Amino acid sequence: ANNRTFTMIKPDAVANGHIGAILDHITKAGFKIVALKYTSLSAEKAGEFYAVHAERGFFADLVSFMSSGPIVAAILEKDNAIEDFRKLIGATDPTKAEKGTIRNLFAKSIDANAVHGSDSDENAEIEGNFFFSAFERF
Ligand code: CMP
Repeated sequence: ANNRTFTMIKPDAVANGHIGAILDHITKAGFKIVALKYTSLSAEKAGEFYAVHAERGFFADLVSFMSSGPIVAAILEKDNAIEDFRKLIGATDPTKAEKGTIRNLFAKSIDANAVHGSDSDENAEIEGNFFFSAFERF
């Protein structure tokens, strides 16, 4: 079914000049951009976004990294969006990401892993709503 996922181009990929290349990969893979925003997360907002990971050992590093510089947030639409987007970006740990995936091409470490992708329809909805109002979706 045609559905939606949510992504962020993370501070590492933005700082390294990869916004254009990553959006190109995404649109060439057949994803339609429903919403798009260049913004940043305060530490508080990053903690709220990643609240499900609050008890994990990597939480403090994750929050500090995700609030370290600007990001690009987007809602994407495609048939089978969640699964196909996760395939396009590759494994969370870029050393394990398949060749040609966005993380294989642009990520440096498990924290600085270039992009985020929602893991379920439910989370895509929650994450999209975190950044975008109804008037910012097309
Ligand atoms: P993301 O998909 O944005 O969701 C949580 C992030 O935590 C993940 O990408 C990684 O960048 C980061 N992270 C750091 N260490 C780990 C880990 N051990 N397992 C999962 N995610 C991790």
